[in-house]
Amino acid sequence: MRADVLHGLMLPQKRLAAKYFYDAPGSRLFDAICELEEYYPTRTEIDILRRHGAAMAERLGRDALLVELGSGSSLKIRVLLEALSPAVYMPVDISKDHLLHSAESLAATFPALQVHAVCADYSVPFELPVDDHEHPRAAFFPGSSVGNFDPADAERLLRRVGDLVGPEGRLLVGVDLVKDHRILEAAYNDAAGVTADFNLNLLTRINRELDADFDLTGFRHRAWFNPASSRIEMHLISTREQHVVVAGQRFTFGVEESIHTESSYKYSVDSFHQLAGRAGFEAEQVWTDADADSDQPPLFSVHCLVWRG
Ligand code: AVI
Repeated sequence: MRADVLHGLMLPQKRLAAKYFYDAPGSRLFDAICELEEYYPTRTEIDILRRHGAAMAERLGRDALLVELGSGSSLKIRVLLEALSPAVYMPVDISKDHLLHSAESLAATFPALQVHAVCADYSVPFELPVDDHEHPRAAFFPGSSVGNFDPADAERLLRRVGDLVGPEGRLLVGVDLVKDHRILEAAYNDAAGVTADFNLNLLTRINRELDADFDLTGFRHRAWFNPASSRIEMHLISTREQHVVVAGQRFTFGVEESIHTESSYKYSVDSFHQLAGRAGFEAEQVWTDADADSDQPPLFSVHCLVWRG
């Protein structure tokens, strides 16, 4: 984290990696975001999982070793567990306490399920700590977290997931869809300011863990849709000229200078299939919240992909 943060703050467009949002307070703030009226992805995806869980289970197959990337509070898998009935569930998350707590609570609710929590940063290559060739493998990557990777990194990540599930292995992945910019921008600029707190918490974390002196009153949160890249960008904007020391190094911020803290790419069903195809996955089925009786475009999609290598 130290090397990443120092490198990111030296770039002409200052950057911090979004994976550092998720310390314990950041994970709690993210859970609060998921409850917000403006933040439609969580409830829309859960609704899709509830409505189509049986069909998804059919695609993924029962008795699998099911790996979830970025499991967080493991809320979404609860919706699918009964239909899926995997032999082993492996939640992978970077936030250790949050992961252990969620894994314990899930194991208590489903005593027949083997739960193996894996604390790892899935954005870089990692190994599963098991030697299990008995169960077919499947992966679950909900929440549109794939959208937090630049497309080239998302492609590399999907390839690694393909290696993990093996030939004919399935990946069930949630992907947020491109839509009216006002809906997107409201989701990342909520009226209660929870997303602002989530974004600013990154500076609090850097202050605490890297002996830095960011003054939080000197930065404000802003998020906007960048149509050329089809992504929401989150930034922290310096409200004045200031100097900040991080791990012994001094950085200067001009008035209105920004730190780019997160990108959240939005896809169409086709553009996501193209990305998945470049990574070696074939699209098998897609479910959305599109309602047959309404002409409203869908907000969110869940894809079942097959690894062809
Ligand atoms: C985790 N990830 C999919 C969220 C998103 O929508 O990109 C993170 C988030 N950032 C602000 N609000 C939510």
